[in-house]
Amino acid sequence: MARDGAVYVCQSCGAAQSKWAGQCPACNAWNSLVEEVTSRPPGALAPTKASKTRGLAFEGLESENPEPPRIVTGVDEFDRVCGGGVVPGSAILLGGDPGVGKSTLLLQVVANAALRGARCAYISGEEAVEQIRGRAGRMGLAQAPVKLAAETALRDILDGLKREPFDLVVIDSIQTMWSDAHEAGPGSVTQVRSCAAELVRLAKKRGIAMILVGHVTKDGQIAGPRVVEHMVDAVLAFEGERGYPFRILRGAKNRFGATDEIGVFEMGDIGLSEVRNPSALFLNEGGERAAGAAVFAGIEGSRPVLVEFQALVAPSAYGTPRRAVVGWDNGRLAMVLAVLESRCGLGLGNRDVYLNVAGGLRISEPAADLAAAAALASSALDEALPQDCVVFGEVSLSGEVRPVGRMESRLKEAAKLGFKRALGPVGAGDGLAVTGVSRLADAVRRIGEQSWS
Ligand code: TYD
Ligand code: MG
Repeated sequence: MARDGAVYVCQSCGAAQSKWAGQCPACNAWNSLVEEVTSRPPGALAPTKASKTRGLAFEGLESENPEPPRIVTGVDEFDRVCGGGVVPGSAILLGGDPGVGKSTLLLQVVANAALRGARCAYISGEEAVEQIRGRAGRMGLAQAPVKLAAETALRDILDGLKREPFDLVVIDSIQTMWSDAHEAGPGSVTQVRSCAAELVRLAKKRGIAMILVGHVTKDGQIAGPRVVEHMVDAVLAFEGERGYPFRILRGAKNRFGATDEIGVFEMGDIGLSEVRNPSALFLNEGGERAAGAAVFAGIEGSRPVLVEFQALVAPSAYGTPRRAVVGWDNGRLAMVLAVLESRCGLGLGNRDVYLNVAGGLRISEPAADLAAAAALASSALDEALPQDCVVFGEVSLSGEVRPVGRMESRLKEAAKLGFKRALGPVGAGDGLAVTGVSRLADAVRRIGEQSWS
């Protein structure tokens, strides 16, 4: 039996068990249960005397107090993803792989906000103050009036933040913080959850915009910040493909804005620079567009983005053909392959298929179906698409090509970048010479015969 007060907390999903087990009964992760001693089991309410509660006071929807203005940090790409600046009294979780550039981004955010007059603090549990200073110096931000601290003890941090008024505070990272109320080590689910809860509470009470950094690791060693996601108002993900300088900031949850907006940055020698017009960034420039390439006219958030899909269909050397995809959804690829096979008569079953989205971008729009299919068909048939052609459209299981949102802006952006034609759903618009197709088989036939009306 477990000792009194001991619970076994899954480091992967945060579920608490009274007994140890090799596999978490909640999320099926192996070897993830770790004993944590708490004063009372999680979820149990502390015994209260009825006389101490205040009862529930209801309020109306209308408020006399006007909403506080958002803090505009001046890093436009960041502000836009937040929904037009950060909201005072809100908590934001910024997640991302170690080394992707979270600390760099947030240092730039607080420094720019401070230069615009916001009272900012940057508290790091990972780097020494000298290190942060050095980085700020290299990025030309040494003059920004940011208050720095290197600290991991939650109690000291809370005290410090109560002593001075702040508008914007960065905690880097939530995994390094520890509260002396728990015996569990820093980075455990208990610590991460309780430190985040305390910091979020302080943010709400004092009207501070609080940004928490959370490392995401695949092996589950550090408690994932998933348990924190429910507590915060916004979850942002900072992504980047290794070997590419581009970094994408994406909203995964946002109580104060849209979640489909992206911010694009480029990592250079002096920190991150904003890419204000990313539409041509992910195009493979120069050289002929070979068979297997299709330019997708996509929309990321509010902006059109053109990106190249590259496919290679090759004879398979193995019994089970390989399917590898970078930058697009595996399941979606399987679906498009099945439709190409059974509705368009393209025999891909025993061939290796590779699909890559150029530039390290991740595409999640269904509108990319036709572009992926066109790239695959172009490689399989060894016929290149016209150089000046963009592609978009959703493909259904029955092989139909469906219209997608904002077709006019896709065409307009393509025209702006020098494209002359488009392959898309029927009735896509008339900004360019559009070859409208209602079925995927028709698109495949056109690629094979090189007939573009
Ligand atoms: P960092 O912000 O420390 O990542 P995280 O906080 O997400 O772990 O960024 C680390 C990487 O960024 C590191 O590999 C070096 C690179 N970098 C640059 O290329 N240029 C720069 O100006 C800075 C500050 C970092
Ligand atoms: Mg860091």
